[in-house]
Amino acid sequence: MNADILLGLQWGDEGKGKIVDVLTPKYDIIARFQGGPNAGHTLVFNNVKHVLHTIPSGIFRANAMNVIGNGVVIDPYIFKEEIDKLVAHGIDVKSKIIISSKAHIIMPSHKALDEAYENDKGDKKIGSTKKGIGPTYTDKIARTGLRVGDILLDFNAIYNSRKQQHAKILANYSYSFDIVAYEQKWFEGIALIKSMQIIDTEYYINKQLRSGKSVLCEGAQGTLLDIEFGSYPFVTSSNTISAGACVGLGISPKVVGKVFGIFKAYCTRVGSGPFPTELFDETGALMQKYGNEFGSTTGRPRRCGWLDLVALKYAIMLNGVTQLFMMKIDVMNTFDTIKVCTGYSYKGEVIDYMPNDIEGVVPVYKEFKGWNCELPSNSYADLPQEIKTYIEFIETETGVPVQIISTGPEREKTIIR
Ligand code: IMP
Repeated sequence: MNADILLGLQWGDEGKGKIVDVLTPKYDIIARFQGGPNAGHTLVFNNVKHVLHTIPSGIFRANAMNVIGNGVVIDPYIFKEEIDKLVAHGIDVKSKIIISSKAHIIMPSHKALDEAYENDKGDKKIGSTKKGIGPTYTDKIARTGLRVGDILLDFNAIYNSRKQQHAKILANYSYSFDIVAYEQKWFEGIALIKSMQIIDTEYYINKQLRSGKSVLCEGAQGTLLDIEFGSYPFVTSSNTISAGACVGLGISPKVVGKVFGIFKAYCTRVGSGPFPTELFDETGALMQKYGNEFGSTTGRPRRCGWLDLVALKYAIMLNGVTQLFMMKIDVMNTFDTIKVCTGYSYKGEVIDYMPNDIEGVVPVYKEFKGWNCELPSNSYADLPQEIKTYIEFIETETGVPVQIISTGPEREKTIIR
């Protein structure tokens, strides 16, 4: 079997939680390949809202196995909190999760470093979630990281030597995060991880694929936050694109099957960084209000703006997207006019690519008539012609079919074509 990949095509928060709910029943294994507790995937089951940060979304399915791959970074404190909440809801967590021995661990001092570095940036802040993501990946690349497999070795000695290294750096910075206060629960999290299934997940996944099992690789954040191709330095510290699934799980590009790209019918961004189509007017405020655009991890309001086709095409190219899933189109139900950015005005000409100095671009828009009505739940044929025109324009421009259209937060408000 192939491994399919589901990922966000914008700046994260595209609505992956709802879609994994639609997709996971079709897969035997759900695998996270990058990111960590900076992510927040919101799923609603039996009228209870769950926000998953590190745990793959297959955890609510009776027969799915959930893999936390080597590319993920785990904060044991947050991981334990997540698990405790799921257990309280009667979910059998331990038997359904396997963790890569090669995944890196976020230490309390990584969180302090994240805060210290952000503080130090003054007005150039990235808007990090301050979950310790950047410093943990920094240590991974610097070959000074702490890995899950270390829990099975002389862990305290390795931990203390890393912590001392961090203390030397932190001595030069100001921060308020209390490392010692965090440590107690963090070590409880380490004990919990130690009691779970820690294996070399790359062998597991490849063996399962060979035996005919289906795998869904679940991305976090979004393509435009990718460390290589996002609007650097306003990015996260991992590879959020489809190639990240190969690196973050140990699978070959040859086994990759479909690449599902999720995007919102408009754009949002949380944290700092360029956002060419950002709206500072009433329309942007309405998108934020109707779309409930507030971060599920940090609660921060999300910046809102029109759909950016230049950015979307870039994301489709980088990921090799085979199917598009369009989310939250209902948020624009009351708008008289819908705009889509089709190019950028840049240094006196109109361009159709994202230049490296993206700050300098001005969007060029095409306008569409709004539909001004409530939308049917599950029939494409019954959609107003104005929406069909909008969707078909996106398909023509991108060359990729829009296979799923989400017309509301509820599970049944999902049009599958
Ligand atoms: P970090 O990954 O916490 O270091 O944050 C780096 C940037 O990515 C910041 O602008 C964050 O707001 C953004 N970011 C990180 N994770 C997410 C996410 O899951 N959704 C949306 N934005 C995110």
